[in-house]
Amino acid sequence: MRHFLSSDAITDLSTILNNIKNIKENPFGNSSLGKNKTMVLLFFNPSLRTRLSTQKAALNLGMHVIPMNVAQGWKIEFEDGTIMNLDKAEHIKEAAAVISQYADVIGIRTFPSLINKEQDYQEMILSQFVKYASVPIVNMESATVHPLQSLTDLFTIEEYKKKTRPKVVLTWAPHPRALPQAVANSFTEWIQKMDYEFVITHPKGYELAPHFTKDCTIEYDQHKAFENADFIYAKNWSSYSDYGKILPTSTNWMITKEKMALTNEAYFMHCLPVRRNVVVEDAVLDSPNSIVIPQAGNRTHAAQAVLTQILNK
Ligand code: CP
Repeated sequence: MRHFLSSDAITDLSTILNNIKNIKENPFGNSSLGKNKTMVLLFFNPSLRTRLSTQKAALNLGMHVIPMNVAQGWKIEFEDGTIMNLDKAEHIKEAAAVISQYADVIGIRTFPSLINKEQDYQEMILSQFVKYASVPIVNMESATVHPLQSLTDLFTIEEYKKKTRPKVVLTWAPHPRALPQAVANSFTEWIQKMDYEFVITHPKGYELAPHFTKDCTIEYDQHKAFENADFIYAKNWSSYSDYGKILPTSTNWMITKEKMALTNEAYFMHCLPVRRNVVVEDAVLDSPNSIVIPQAGNRTHAAQAVLTQILNK
């Protein structure tokens, strides 16, 4: 693996899932692999889990880590041929090439505009870094996907599943702000590589991009979707068709104890951060079936498995 940008980077999913298990059992077993190598983490928007887990993963491999918040103050020009006489002081061509002088691996976290669908779905920022950097790039959540999260999610399901072929439900849930489709896209993309029963449930108008959902089962009745589920994965996302918008829909999509009672004592998952009593009620999030904390803990092991593959290459 050179870059880790999406599920396409993983040619052998069962091997990397097994590697994550081994890393979890023995996190310092390869602590010299990244000796004298540096990882630069660029954050165009805030992060708690991705930032700390990726940093910890790199440290466990003996790497140096330089995190950098670039949300404010550093405005990069991404367009080719622009006359740069406005507020953007640096072009991506120099920025990515210069960071490559200091880093052996670059992690990038960037959100979509949620305004320009075409530009977001072309992964304009991430792809420009890939083009102009001379070192491997790790996607720490981009405009349309969050592969480190999804790899973690698959590992967590494998860890907790009680039957070979569990029923996994991705459910839309309400949120006061317009959020990216990245986590839902990515979860959908990765889960189709597993032999699970997979159902997506959301209100009409929240259909994900067809190239992610492909032949997935979409069930508009949330109660029906929850029946006999073994895992409920909740996430809000804004509309793809009415791009970036929150649609007028009822708020009764919140995950409640009553809805969880329809399931096969399902585990509750969410990538976090989560809005309590908006996305999910306290009674579910605080229940023994909520696995959101170990799920977040697994972020480190998944990131470490990805970095191990990159460093070995
Ligand atoms: N799940 C996730 O990516 O969390 P952060 O936004 O805190 O990184």
